[in-house]
Amino acid sequence: MTSLLLGFTLSPLSLGETPTWSKDVAPIVYKHCLGCHRTGSVGPFELRTYKDVSRRADFLGDMVASNKMPPWKPEAGHGSFKDEMRLSDKEKATFAAWVAGDAPEGDAKDLPPQPIFAKGWKLGQPDKVITIPKPFDVPAEGKDIYQYFVIPLELTQDEALVGYEFEPGNAKVVHHSIMYLDHTHSARKIMDPKTQSYHRFGGPGFVPTGSLGAWTPGARPSMLPKGTGRYIKKESDLVIQIHYHPSGKPETDQSRLALYYAKTPPEQYVGSVLIRPRYFVIPAGESKHIVETKPIRLPVDVTVLSIAPHMHLLGKEIKVIAQLPNGKEIPLIWIRDWDFNWQGSYFYMDPIDLPAGTVIKTKAIYNNSTSNPKNPNHPPKVVTWGEETTDEMLMCLISVITKTKEDMKKFLEMPGGPIGSMMPGSVFPETPEEIAEAKKNRGKIILQTLMWQFDKNEDGFLSREEIQELPKENRDQILPLLRVMGKLKD
Ligand code: HEC
Repeated sequence: MTSLLLGFTLSPLSLGETPTWSKDVAPIVYKHCLGCHRTGSVGPFELRTYKDVSRRADFLGDMVASNKMPPWKPEAGHGSFKDEMRLSDKEKATFAAWVAGDAPEGDAKDLPPQPIFAKGWKLGQPDKVITIPKPFDVPAEGKDIYQYFVIPLELTQDEALVGYEFEPGNAKVVHHSIMYLDHTHSARKIMDPKTQSYHRFGGPGFVPTGSLGAWTPGARPSMLPKGTGRYIKKESDLVIQIHYHPSGKPETDQSRLALYYAKTPPEQYVGSVLIRPRYFVIPAGESKHIVETKPIRLPVDVTVLSIAPHMHLLGKEIKVIAQLPNGKEIPLIWIRDWDFNWQGSYFYMDPIDLPAGTVIKTKAIYNNSTSNPKNPNHPPKVVTWGEETTDEMLMCLISVITKTKEDMKKFLEMPGGPIGSMMPGSVFPETPEEIAEAKKNRGKIILQTLMWQFDKNEDGFLSREEIQELPKENRDQILPLLRVMGKLKD
């Protein structure tokens, strides 16, 4: 209406001028897109020049408006993380107005200088650089590959890791990477000795004795807080999982990883636990199946450094909150549009202090219907907890520091499950004898998780009613164990 009166069309920025590429949009694209969308990086095409961007303006506009790009999963307001890749509302409005206004170029004089992407290690001279043993061939087409490379760290003494930087060898095919430690040398038994690697979907296929974290495109390396470090036991192997995404052409990759060790022993070690229920069932066809973990109560004060949720292909949404003893809720993370292909370890901008008695709650939603394009089953079928492609998981890795070593031990002993050896002389098996003993005790660990999950009244036994809650699909497996361990109430 106004446009008729005034005789011209209004831009969506009400009475403002239509933004131009040179003045308004290029700075946004340089800041939020070019890092990945340039030759030699992960994006499927370059977004550098006016031509690159204007010819796909509508498509890019949709991706930006729907938050699909940049690929940043955590919702705003649920944890504030390092390296957040998110456009401000103003930047989004500018982009939308530019697209709606037919994507004008404007005056080339306004164009800001293009960013320079520094080469070399960003944290300085590393203590050790690890290279994938042999160039790995990624075929032109086919399914995504999850390849695990097993690399001895050759440490003759224990070390504390204070930082790392992953460098993809071929950004066209390296989609993301997760780095595990293995001091029991279990992964060596799985690998093909010729390539020192193996491929597998879901989990690594062994119980890691530690984890360094994950790398996703766009993540910038940073050092752990001063005085802290991650424990690496001597003789540990590093197991690097790389997710390869075929590019349409045959490619090879030889990625590298730089490690930075503490110069002096750290005052505190970082410890991680995996919060996970082991047994749950997702009915076939259900599009909004909710799984909630039993709330975990923190036995000691902790400072949370990072969080990394994990589900498989049916995962749709995951939310983790901490409820303080005074009832106040602190959102730890919310991923509303889970994508197996974009998993990350998210580091808090300001580490979060949680006092003893805080309760951590996790809620996940799964879509096991035909409306989930990633559903591996056609038609959908009942899916249970497990490690394979077609199984599901619900895990959340939380990494913390504590005030004292004793506190860390208590934290790692929480039900839910520590992921391995976190500090010297830790509560975990270390000598071959202890490891053999631990294998025998595996039943005990499973039992601990089971009781934590199903012993609702916490009397130390499962009553008839509590047994009803055990998933039908797993009951035959679980009941004999419960019987042998004297945990059934008759
Ligand atoms: C962290 C790296 C990264 C950043 C930052 C990034 N992209 Fe992407 N983009 C990718 C990757 C990788 C793909 C390929 C698809 C995938 O793996 O999800 C992609 C795909 C796309 C696609 C094609 C999607 C499709 O369905 O075919 C568009 C369009 C796109 N990006 C636009 C943008 C825009 C616009 C920005 C900035 C506002 C941006 N991207 C920022 C990595 C990135």
